[in-house]
This record gives sequence, structure tokens and C-alpha cells, in this order.
Amino acid sequence: MSSINTLKKQILSQGELPNHIAIIMDGNGRWAKKRGLPRTVGHKYGVKAVKKVVRAAGEIGIKYLTLYTFSTENWKRPKKEVSAIMNLLYETTRRELNELLENNVRLITTGDIEALSPRRRKMLKEAIALTANDTGLTLNLALNYSGRFEILQAVKNIAVDYAKGAFKIDDIDGELFSSYLQTNGLPDPDLLIRTSGEMRISNFLLWQTSYTEMYITDVLWPDFDEKEFYRAIIDFQGRERRFGRVKRAKKSKGT
Ligand code: FPP
Repeated sequence: MSSINTLKKQILSQGELPNHIAIIMDGNGRWAKKRGLPRTVGHKYGVKAVKKVVRAAGEIGIKYLTLYTFSTENWKRPKKEVSAIMNLLYETTRRELNELLENNVRLITTGDIEALSPRRRKMLKEAIALTANDTGLTLNLALNYSGRFEILQAVKNIAVDYAKGAFKIDDIDGELFSSYLQTNGLPDPDLLIRTSGEMRISNFLLWQTSYTEMYITDVLWPDFDEKEFYRAIIDFQGRERRFGRVKRAKKSKGT
């Protein structure tokens, strides 16, 4: 079994790093159920995995890490579970703020955080403001996020600006569209990791993941650690990305 350091060295010597990694953190509930524990305990251990992965990403110089923390559909879960997740988010951000600052991590969010309680929203906004000048890893929490909603909002806002004469119809291209998304300013993810074996995108970054490499592992999120994270990156480094083109032909002499 390779150690964390061996995997880290392999990544750094092997090739290009993914610039932006997005993760669908799934399986907290199943992890808890397997142990006869309440689902909320699964989320608590899920936070431990978040910390390991954030640290591991920062250590190898990943620039952007987006975590699917809470989808708009997650509000439909039992009230007790929703408030447990929200409390974990609040407590973790508050407790880890100094560590984020010490490690030069910039915290941002994607999604509508206005729906969060005033106390939680205030604390998140403070953490975002305090880390705004950090230049290391950008940690993006997708919170109260829906890919379809984000696209619909973009379409509406584009229509409003078009009606105002801000641009012509032919100016609406991929770049302009992306600039109306909540992820404006972030590069598209290069690698999307999903834990717990489900083969779904679950309304996550629908526009942004068009050419993202997917890595799906059966490991449940609370068991996902530095080694699992580094293995996903090594797998990514072995992929050939063609973006819809054919394999690049080897250059022959004289061309
Ligand atoms: C998915 O597992 C997990 C979530 C919807 C919540 C993820 C949230 C955390 C790990 C806490 C967030 C904290 C920070 C600081 C980012 P699931 O409940 O859907 O699992 P299941 O599919 O096995 O039921």
C-alpha cells in the first residue's frame, strides 16, 4: 500500500494537476446506517473527510476545490437532518476559520445563501470577507445550489440585459453565458469526483461539467481520505482529454 507521501510525489512528478476539482460528497447516510448510527453521525464524520481533502488539495497546490455541500433538493430531508447539516457547516466554518487563514485558503460559495438563517449567513459572509485576499486554494462550497436553477436564472438575466440593449443576439456565446452563472470567475472543473458509487450528476454544475473527467468510487464519503483523493488525481493524470476532437496525431518531420 502506498503512503500519502508516495502518492503525493507521484502526482507532482507525473504531470499536470487538475486546476479545478469538484466533489459530490455522497454516502454519509449509508456509512452511518452500516454502523447502526443516526444519519447525522454520518454527516459529522463527513466533515472529518472534508478537512482531510481540503488539506490534501492545498498541499499539492490545487487551485480550486468545489464541494457539493447542500443542494436545493436537500431541504426536503427531515427537518432534524437539515438543521444538523446546517449546524455542522456553521460550527466547522467558525472553528476552522483560523486554519483557513493560516493556510492561505480563500472561502467562497456558489448557490443562494440568502435562504440560510441570518446567523449562519452572517458568519459565512464574514469568513468569505476575511479570506478574500488569500491566494492559495479557493474552497468553493456549493450551498443551496441547483444547476438547473442557476441556468434558468442566467437565461432570465441575459433576457433582461438583451432587452436593455446590452448586447446583440449573436453576442450570446458560451463565454457570455458562463459569465451569467453563479460560478462566474471560476474555471470549469477538470475533474469531478463522486463517492458512494452512484452514477448521477444530481443537478450539480450542469453547464460547467461538459468536458469534465469523472471519477466515481464506491468509497463512502466519511471514508474518503487523502489517499483516496490522491488516487483520483493519479487516475485523472492518466486520462487522455480530447474535448470532442480526435487523438492528436504525432508530428511528422517537416510539418
Ligand atoms: C451526502 O450524503 C451528504 C450531504 C448531502 C451533506 C454533506 C455535508 C457535509 C459533509 C457537511 C458539510 C460541512 C462542510 C464544512 C463543507 P447522503 O446523506 O446523501 O448519504 P446517503 O446517500 O448515503 O444517504
